[in-house]
This record gives sequence, structure tokens and C-alpha cells, in this order.
Amino acid sequence: MPIAVAGAGYVGLTTAACLCELGHQVTLLEIDVERVARLKRGESPIFEPGLDALLQRHLGRALKVTTDLSEALDGAEVLIACVGTPPTASGAPNLSALWRLLGDLRRQRRSGELTVVVKSTVPPGTNRRAQQRLGAGFAVVSNPEFLREGTAIHDFFHPDRIVVGAAQPAAARQVAALYRGIDAPVVVTGWEEAELIKYASNAFLAVKLSFTNEVAAVADSLGADGLTVLRGVGLDRRIGPHFLAPGPGYGGSCLPKDLAALRWTARRRRVRLDLLPAAERANRRQRQRVLAKLGPVAGKRIAVWGLAFKAGTDDVRESPALEIIPALLAHGARVVAHDPEARRTFAAALTGTGVQREGSAPASTGVPAPGAGLPDGLTLVDDMWEAARGADALLVLTEWPEYAAAPPEAIRTALAGDLVVDARNLFDPEVMATAGLRYRGVGRDR
Ligand code: UGA
Repeated sequence: MPIAVAGAGYVGLTTAACLCELGHQVTLLEIDVERVARLKRGESPIFEPGLDALLQRHLGRALKVTTDLSEALDGAEVLIACVGTPPTASGAPNLSALWRLLGDLRRQRRSGELTVVVKSTVPPGTNRRAQQRLGAGFAVVSNPEFLREGTAIHDFFHPDRIVVGAAQPAAARQVAALYRGIDAPVVVTGWEEAELIKYASNAFLAVKLSFTNEVAAVADSLGADGLTVLRGVGLDRRIGPHFLAPGPGYGGSCLPKDLAALRWTARRRRVRLDLLPAAERANRRQRQRVLAKLGPVAGKRIAVWGLAFKAGTDDVRESPALEIIPALLAHGARVVAHDPEARRTFAAALTGTGVQREGSAPASTGVPAPGAGLPDGLTLVDDMWEAARGADALLVLTEWPEYAAAPPEAIRTALAGDLVVDARNLFDPEVMATAGLRYRGVGRDR
């Protein structure tokens, strides 16, 4: 089936490349000319494991890229909107890119019906408004994504469910058929239900994580092993083993943004929420807890391993490092930080030149080289051992495999001090102690 995908951010790129893999012909529409030029050269504008290979396989064949809407729509019966919906101060997402796209679609209106699939994350009520704006000749279908950054390709082909929210059964069937070949339950529902499934899922994950981190804090206070506690909790099938790994608090573009948007939705409808604001507060406190594990830092040199909000991505949006590193500097520490992928995006975020990764927003323009314009006291290095060498303490913030594989003796030799605060519980406390290190994990801090 010929399909147009609007927006070459991580969702649009992943969706487009994976739909090609399922046998569809896809035209990817992107307004950022530089991003289009990069794609046409066969370069992926984002770091997402496995995406490069898919793009290489399909670009110029099943996958075409254009800045021109009429070219994207040529022959297409379905357009999938994957444009960014970044948060605003109120918590409401900014839907201007979506409305702009729908306005363009209405003006380009051709003969025949076009199914407009809204994959962008939008507040309940948005698909209904989209249908009203587009009018006859268009069928709007909500089809939220559940792709995790870093494992987006895997998640596309192995989803727990496919959610299709539509007003017309024929349009719902057409969208479900896009995923033929994927083995997953399809939840066919109305617009608002589909929109709310997306928000409620991410909000639940955020709540579950804040709960996890609070249990870990209580375990720490008891000198108990919080990881064993949480494993024991997660074996209850009603709870499940996932999202029970304590850490520096959740980050990324999705959990914080969707929680804020759900709160905004409830506020507008005068529904009082107690649990979600508490989960947000707990997440902020978790950053402070991790920071406190370092003890007084004034005048010290702190090595930080990990800037990305999680491993497998160069995304630093709402990343723990973005809060913790400025706090360390404010407390008078010098920080030497490393990340295998996210140094450039971190520097861009910290120096206010924009985060390189946002959906189809202006991207790589003006992104400084790592190091340019960074705050005093902060150095970003491209070798993890250079960061550790001579530091008073090591703080691990992202669970990159190369950090987990670091031999404890080598850490002991590299550091001038002996403290390791491991916010991802990558290391075995006994082994670290044997290597002569003072080790403090999260939920494993004895
Ligand atoms: C999240 C959801 O998991 C996806 O289903 C959803 O599609 C996506 O948002 C989205 O809305 O687009 P993502 O933000 O990529 O995906 O990241 P997750 O893997 O869910 O991790 C979220 C945060 O929780 C990260 O900061 C991670 O480090 C943290 N985390 C996760 C933990 O600290 N412990 C855990 O056990 C799991």
C-alpha cells in the first residue's frame, strides 16, 4: 500500500523504515531541507540502533523522501502524521505542527478519500478536532505509538498491542491492515479512548518508576537490598517485573511530557488528580537523592559517566544529567563527563542551542561542537577513562554497556578518590568493595 509519513523525527523515521520492511511503499515528508538532504545521502539524522541498516536497504527504493506534500500524497491512500508535539509551560503539548499539516492537507485536497492517521501523541479530543477541521473526504484515525527510544525497531515489530481509534470501521480496518504480518492484539476503539490509552500507559510507567525509586530509598535506609525486594515484588504477576529497576528518576521526551499533558487534560476538565503530581514530585526528589549520595562536592572533581536519559540513544531531553551536572557545578564541583553518543546533544541542550533530536523541529543547525560555550568547571571528553582519571568520585548516570563492562580494579586505579555512586546499579557491590571502592547504588547503598 503506498503510504505518506509526515515528519522525519524518531517516530516518523522508524515508522517509515519499518513499514517498508513490511512491504509498503512509503514517501516520507519532512519540511527541514537539511534533514531531507542528509536522508537523501543515506545518512540517518538520528541515532537509533538498527535504523541505519533499514534506511540503507529502503532509501531510494521502497522509501522516498520529499519536502513536497503533493509528491508525498501522490497515489497515497493513507498519511501518517508523526510530527512533533513538544510540551509547553502549561503542560499542554504544542500542536502547531499538526494543525499546519492538516491545513496543508485540506488545501491540497484531491479526489478520493484520504485516511489521516495521527501517530503524534496528542491530548484526548484532538483527533475529533482534526476530523472537524478536515471535513468530508478525510477519515481521521488515532494510532498512538509505543516505541521506546533505543529499541524502536524491535518495538515496532513486536508490540504488546496495536491501538486504532476511529469513527468509521472501514478506516480502522484500513489502518490495522498496515500492520499485517505483525503478531499483536489490535484494540479497535474510538478516538478519545485511543488517545487516553497512550497517555495512561506512559503515566502508569512514570508512577510505577516513582514507586520503585521510593521502595529503593526505604531499602537504602534499612541497609536492605532493594533490588532483591523489587524482584520479589515483581514476581507477583499482577505487578510484573518491568519498570522495577531503581535509578536516577525517569527522563526522556515521553514520560515527563505525557504525564504533564494528562495533568493538563484533567485540569481543564476539573478532575482533581493526586497520584500523578506526587509521581512527578518523587521523580524530582530522586535526582536530589542521587546527588546526596556523593556527599559534599565543593572543590572536588567528579567524573560523570552518562549524559543520555537512558542507554541506546543520544537523547538528553529531561535527562538526569541535565539536572545533576548543573547542580554539581553550583555546589562548587568540577565535572568531567563522558557519554558514547550524547555529548553533542548534551552540549546543545546545556548551551541553549536547542536539542538536536526534537521531532522535525529545526535540527542540527547551530549545534556547537562539544566543549564550545560550556559552563565553567564542566568538561566533556570522548574517552570514559579520561573522565575517571584523577577524579575524587565517579557518578554513573546512564546504563551504557561499556560502563557496566568496566573492570572495578581499573576504576580504582583511574580514580584519585574511592567513591562510586552508581545510579544504575551496574556493578556488584561485593566486587566493588573487594576492589577497594566505596560503592553506593540506588536501593543497594549499605
Ligand atoms: C516511553 C515508553 O516506554 C514507550 O512505550 C513510549 O512509546 C514512549 O515513551 C513514547 O511515548 O514515545 P522512552 O521514553 O523511550 O519510552 O523510554 P523508556 O524505556 O520507557 O524509559 C523511560 C525512563 O525510565 C528512562 O529515563 C529510563 O532510564 C527509566 N527507567 C525505565 C528506569 O529508571 N527504570 C526502569 O526499570 C525502566
